[in-house]
Amino acid sequence: MEVAGGMRKASSHASMAGASAGDPDDFDLTRLLNHRPRINVDRQRSFDDRSLAEHSISGTASRGGGGAYMESYESMYSPGGGLRSMCGTPASSRLSFEPHPLVFEAWDALRRSLVCFRGQPIGTIAAVDHSSDEVLNYDQVFVRDFVPSALAFLMNGEPEIVKNFLLKTLLLQGWEKRIDRFKLGEGAMPASFKVLKDPKRGVEKLVADFGESAIGRVAPVDSGFWWIILLRAYTKSTGDLSLAESPECQKGIRLIMNQCLAEGFDTFPTLLCADGCCMIDRRMGVYGYPMEIQALFFMALRCAVLMLKPDAAEGKETMERIATRLHALSYHMRSYFWLDFQQLNDVYRYKTEEYSHTAVNKFNVIPESIPDWVFDFMPSRGGYFVGNVSPARMDFRWFALGNFVAILASLATPEQSAAIMDLVEERWEDLIGEMPLKISFPAIESHEWQIVTGCDPKNTRWSYHNGGSWPVLLWLLTAACIKTGRLKIARRAIELAEARLARDGWPEYYDGKLGRYVGKQARKLQTWSVAGYLVAKMMLEDPSHLGMISLEDDKAIKPVLQRSASWPA
Ligand code: GLC
Repeated sequence: MEVAGGMRKASSHASMAGASAGDPDDFDLTRLLNHRPRINVDRQRSFDDRSLAEHSISGTASRGGGGAYMESYESMYSPGGGLRSMCGTPASSRLSFEPHPLVFEAWDALRRSLVCFRGQPIGTIAAVDHSSDEVLNYDQVFVRDFVPSALAFLMNGEPEIVKNFLLKTLLLQGWEKRIDRFKLGEGAMPASFKVLKDPKRGVEKLVADFGESAIGRVAPVDSGFWWIILLRAYTKSTGDLSLAESPECQKGIRLIMNQCLAEGFDTFPTLLCADGCCMIDRRMGVYGYPMEIQALFFMALRCAVLMLKPDAAEGKETMERIATRLHALSYHMRSYFWLDFQQLNDVYRYKTEEYSHTAVNKFNVIPESIPDWVFDFMPSRGGYFVGNVSPARMDFRWFALGNFVAILASLATPEQSAAIMDLVEERWEDLIGEMPLKISFPAIESHEWQIVTGCDPKNTRWSYHNGGSWPVLLWLLTAACIKTGRLKIARRAIELAEARLARDGWPEYYDGKLGRYVGKQARKLQTWSVAGYLVAKMMLEDPSHLGMISLEDDKAIKPVLQRSASWPA
C-alpha cells in the first residue's frame, strides 16, 4: 500500500508545483524526492552525494551497514510477483489504480526471458521467439541489453537477479581473453554470454564473447561502464553496500578504470574508440570520440569514485586519477561537444589554420563541412551534444543515448539539460515521430552511406542504427524528462509506444523517417524493448526511482563556461 500512497503523493505534488509553473506536468523533482524518502536518504547521501572534492583523496567517508535500511525497504516494497515464483505479476498490481494492461503483458514477457545458471536467474536473453518452445535466436545475455531489465527488477524490489548478474559478469572479467594471438586488457567485460547445457553430463557452463565472436570483432567499450553504473544502481536501490565494497567488486572496478585511464598519446581527455564498440555495434562512423561512449565513460567514472574504497592504497590512487580525469573530461565535453544556435553560428564563421594557444577553432573544423541539414534542424531554443569531435571533424548527428546519459550523469549542466529537452520538443517529428525514439538523426544515404557504413545493407537510411527508432530508449528519455521536470514529453512518448508496441510484438526497432514501420530485420519480443517500456512506466509512477540511475550536479567539476544563446542569463 505504501507504493500506492507514494503514488498519490507524487501526483498531488505534480499539480501543486505545476500550478505555479503553469503546466501541471512539469514540476520540481527535488521537492518530490525530498518529500517522499522511499529510501534512507541520509545514508544514501553519505554514500552517493559526496562531492568530488570529498572523495578526491581526503579519505575515509564512513559507511554504515545496510541492515536496518534493508529491512524497512523490504517491508514497504515487497515484490508482487517476485523472483520466487519467477512468473508472477508486478508489484504495481498492488497499486490502488489499475495499471495499463500492457504492463502485465510486459512483465510476463520479461520473466519469460530470464536465463538461469545452476538454478539461479542470472540475466535476460536478448530476444525470445515464443512462437516455438525453443529459443530461436539471440540466446545470449547482452550486458548492455540487460541494464533496463535489471532496473525493472530493482524497481520491482527483486534485486537478487541483478546481484547474480553482477557477480557472474565479474567472474567472466577474470578470464584470460584472446583474439587470435592478442591478449585483451584485464578489465574488459563481455559484450554477451550464454549458458551452455550438456544434458547428458548434466552440467552447465558459461561461454562469453568479448569481441572475438562479435561481427567486426569489436570489443564492447560500454560493457564495463554499464557494469559499474548497474552496480551503483543496485547499491543505491537496495542499500546493500556489501557487494560494491567486496574485494572482488573493488578489484573489478579498478581493472575497468585501469583500462580506460591508461596513459597513451592522447591530447584529449575523451576516450578513443573503434567503430561499433557500443549500442551501435557496427560500422556507422562512430569511431574516434563517440558521444555515447564519452557520456557513459563520464557516468562510470562518477559512479566508480563513489564506490571505491579509499582505504586500500590502490583504491585511493585510482580515485585520484578519476578525479583528475573528470575535471578535464567535463570541461572538454561541455565546451567542445556542445552545439546550439549561437555555437553553430560561431562554427559557421570559424577561421581555419589557426596555430598556437590563442586559436578559437581549436580542432580546425572547416565551416564548409557543416552539413546543410543542421542549419534547419537547429532551433533557436535548444541544443545538444554532437556525435563526435576530433581533428577537422565534427559529426553533427544527434545520438539519443549519449545525450540522455549526459543529462542523467550531470555531464550536461542544468542549462544544457534543459536545452536538450527543448530540442526534443521543438524537433518532435524528427526525434520521436510516431514511435519513440530515433537512435540517431538524420540518416546517412547514398554515397555517404557507402563510405561511412561500408555499404551495410542492415544500416540503410532510416533503418536500424541509421536513423531507426528504438523503443528501448524510452526509459532513458523518461529518466531525462523526470530529471529535468519535463514529464509531459515522457507521457506523450509513452502513449505513442503503448499504441503499437504490444500489437507489433515488441520489436527491436522501427524504420522510416517517422518510425512508422516495424524494422526490416527487427526481432520480435526483444527483451530490452519490453524492459525499456516497463522502466519508463515505473519511473513515471514513482519518480523517486530516478535516484538509482541519476547523479546530481557536482559543484567540484563545474568548468568555466561561455554562455550562449540557449542559456538564458
Ligand atoms: C544489436 C544492437 C546491440 C544489442 C544487440 C542485442 O546488435 O545493435 O546494441 O546489444 O543487438 O540485442
